[in-house]
This record gives sequence, C-alpha cells and structure tokens, in this order.
Amino acid sequence: MEGMKDFFWGGSIAAHQCEGAWQEGGKGPAIMDFVTKGSNKEPRTITDKIDPKLDYPSHLGIDFYHHYKDDIQLFKEMGFTALRISIDWSRIFPKGDEHEPNQAGLAFYERVIDELLANNIEPIVTLYHFEMPIHLVHAYGSWKNRQVIDFYLHYCETVMRFYNDKVKFWVTFNEMNHLDPQSEQSDIFTYLIAGLKYSEMENPVEDLARIGYNMTLAGVKVVQLARKINPENKIGCVFGLNPIYSYDCQPDNVLKAFFDNDQDYYQVDAMCNGKFPRYKMRQYQALGIELENHPDDVEAFNKGSIDFIGLNYYMSSISKLNTPVEGESALFGGLQNPYLEQSKWGWGIDPTGIRYVLNYLYRRYELPIIITENGLGAVDQVENGQIHDDYRIDYLEKHVNAVKQAVDEDYVECFGYLTWAPIDLVSATTGEMSKRYGFIYVDLDNQGKGSLQRYQKDSFMWYQNVIKGNGKKP
Ligand code: BG6
Repeated sequence: MEGMKDFFWGGSIAAHQCEGAWQEGGKGPAIMDFVTKGSNKEPRTITDKIDPKLDYPSHLGIDFYHHYKDDIQLFKEMGFTALRISIDWSRIFPKGDEHEPNQAGLAFYERVIDELLANNIEPIVTLYHFEMPIHLVHAYGSWKNRQVIDFYLHYCETVMRFYNDKVKFWVTFNEMNHLDPQSEQSDIFTYLIAGLKYSEMENPVEDLARIGYNMTLAGVKVVQLARKINPENKIGCVFGLNPIYSYDCQPDNVLKAFFDNDQDYYQVDAMCNGKFPRYKMRQYQALGIELENHPDDVEAFNKGSIDFIGLNYYMSSISKLNTPVEGESALFGGLQNPYLEQSKWGWGIDPTGIRYVLNYLYRRYELPIIITENGLGAVDQVENGQIHDDYRIDYLEKHVNAVKQAVDEDYVECFGYLTWAPIDLVSATTGEMSKRYGFIYVDLDNQGKGSLQRYQKDSFMWYQNVIKGNGKKP
C-alpha cells in the first residue's frame, strides 16, 4: 500500500474465544465462562453457575492454549507481520482483586508473545476483550463501581511492566462503545462488555451511563500509565463502528440515522478529544443521572488521549423512524438494506462502508487508524479436506480494496489491516463454531466434537498473496 510504509498485515483473536483451558494455569472463572452456545435464531444463555449439563464454548475454545505454537507457524506461513491477541484478565488475577499476579498466567502469555516475536510478528495486545473475572461482577458490581477501575489499573500496570521490552502496541478495551445508555437493550452486549444482563438491571440507563463513564475513565488512565511505563508505548482503543445510514432521504429519518450513528461515538470522543463530551453529560443531567465523577477526572481525560484508533468493521445498518436499529435486532437480521447482500447471520455486506468509516474517523480525530477486525462469518463445507471459501475471498478482497482507496485516494492514515479471525474460533454473539471466519479451518463442530486439526482454506493462499503484494495481488 503506497500511503503506508510498515503496514501491518495480520489478524485478531481473543482469549475467551480461542484459548479454552479455562481451568488450567491457575485461571479464575471469567464472565464468558458462564455463557452457553446459542445460534442465529436463539440467543446464548447466561447462567449463574456452571451447569455440567450445558455446553459452554469458552471452556474448550479451539484449544489455542495448547496449539498456539502450531497456529503461529500457520500465521507466519501466510506472512503475518502482526497478530492482535487479548490477555485474559482472569489468567493474571483469577479473582481480579488480588495484589499478587498469577505467575503461570504471566508465563503463558510470555510464551505466546515470545513465539510471535521469534517469527517476526508484532504482538498487538488488547487488555480487555470481554474477559473480566466473574468475582468482580459478584463482589463489586462490575464497572458500575469505581473500585474496579483501580483493579483494572493494577492489572494493566502488572502486564505492561512484565512485557515491557516485548510489547509496544496496547489496546485498552475492545468495543466498549456498544454500550450506549440510551439505546442499548440487549443482554448479550451488556454482558459481553460488563458481565451484567440488561434485563436484570434495576436502572439500566443509569447503570450503563456509569459503566460507560467508568470504563472510559479507566481507559484514559491506562493511556497515561502506559506512557509512564514506557514513552515508546503506543496505546489505542478498539471501537466497533458499523455506519448507520438513513433508510431514505426523508429528513426525519436522516436525523434519526445521525443520532443512531452518533451513539457509538461518545466514548471515541472522550478518548480522542481530551474530555468527556459535554453533550453526553447534559443528556445525563436531563435524565436525572448523577455520575460519580471526581475533580481529577477532568485532568485524566485531558492527559489520556489515545495514540491510535482500532476499528472493528463488519457491516453497515440502516435506520428508520420507529424501527430498532441496534443490538440484537441488527445482530440477528432486523431492518435490511435493499442494496446489500446479507450474511447468513443478517449482517449487511458493505465494503464501501469501511471506506466511509475510515474517512469519517480520520476527519473527525486525525489519529492513525488500524483496522483491528474485519471478516465474514460463514458456514464452510469441507470436501476431501479442502475448503473452497470463495465467498470469504470475495468479501475480504472488496474490503481490502476499499481500505486501499481510503489510504491512496482519500489520504486516511491507516497503518494496518487485521482480519477477524485468521483461524476459526467461537462466535462471540452466538457461541457457535459453525460461524467461521478463518483462513484456517478448525475441525470442531457446534457440539464440541472434532479432532481440532487445522486445515488451510483457499483463502489462506489468497491472503498470503495479498500480504506478499502489500495489498495488491503479486
Ligand atoms: C466483534 C468482537 O465485535 O465481532 C469479536 O470484537 C467477535 O469478539 C466479532 O467475535 C464477530 O462477532 P461474532 O459474533 O460473529 O463472533
């Protein structure tokens, strides 16, 4: 890609969706360990205790915990120059509120990071990708409680110091921006991000406002911490941003689409503009919500702006008066754009949308952007050990081209493209294995059966060529 030298090519994975080994190496139980498998028709169930009769996909994942070396070799074979992983907080602090870290947890990620470095793959490390020790939810009420910010800072400081000479790129949170207090109403999203079910919150709007504020504050504090630990650190935050277009040019629909789209941005504003947005505070005041904010929060926001934006992009949505657009409705179908094809899970396939968001973000914040997730969840068929996933190649090729246009023609500063996920893993929203994203097929089905063997799909070689040609086919 001409606009960027040292452009990162690679993929992203998350601990709770791939590692498995949920009781090994001293790991404590984390929020996603209590979520069963669902489907594109049936939401996942969140249980209070582990019920041995039920199926919890995070317990096995794809057993990356034991396969990481071989998997990294496959990433290397494709030519990856970066891999985004997440550290599972519950491996480092099994309950979350301990003072001393779990050495076995630190050692596991050290092995993974060393393996990446030995293969010239830059580790980009997410500190929180839906992985919170469940104890922090039960004993403290999760992010509603400001004490959790201190536990999170202690955890972040521990890992940032421990891997200081090895990791340069850090991500504070994955997609916390999906929790807009005024629009979010789905159990799965509030649970993924904060370990709490929307339907069980007594004051959901107030609770989500607190959670959103506290997480954002925690994020800017970690930025400062990262710079103190090592001024060379680059620290960003990953946001899930799927543009929301107006259903038509009826002005009230256009205005609604503007506000629907904007709801995903207040935390991006807070982390990039050096202050928590005034419009959001005014909205909370009007709703009678009083956030617990301290005088030095203002300084924390002021000094904690991120170095880069991570963009997770999958689809676009449309908005129309009196029609829900966000949350489960969009996740499992909902209002569809007649100009787009949809994936089997109802996600509108829209390569132009990635160029649109890249431009929107860059013009609004002028910060470097890395695409931290992009991919197509699809059902793959294995024929004589081969997987002909031309639909995935088609999706990715169009998106890579749109990124290229954003960089070469629109002058967006984008420094990497990481797919979700380079290897099949457990779907976050549905818990299925059959919703596959990888270049590497994992022999594991929705019932948890399979050899766990890895196979290269056709897209494996396609991506290898894309990387070789730095975005162009060589
Ligand atoms: C992103 C998440 O929002 O979407 C990932 O960061 C997730 O964790 C990805 O896996 C795709 O969603 P799903 O539900 O298809 O796995």
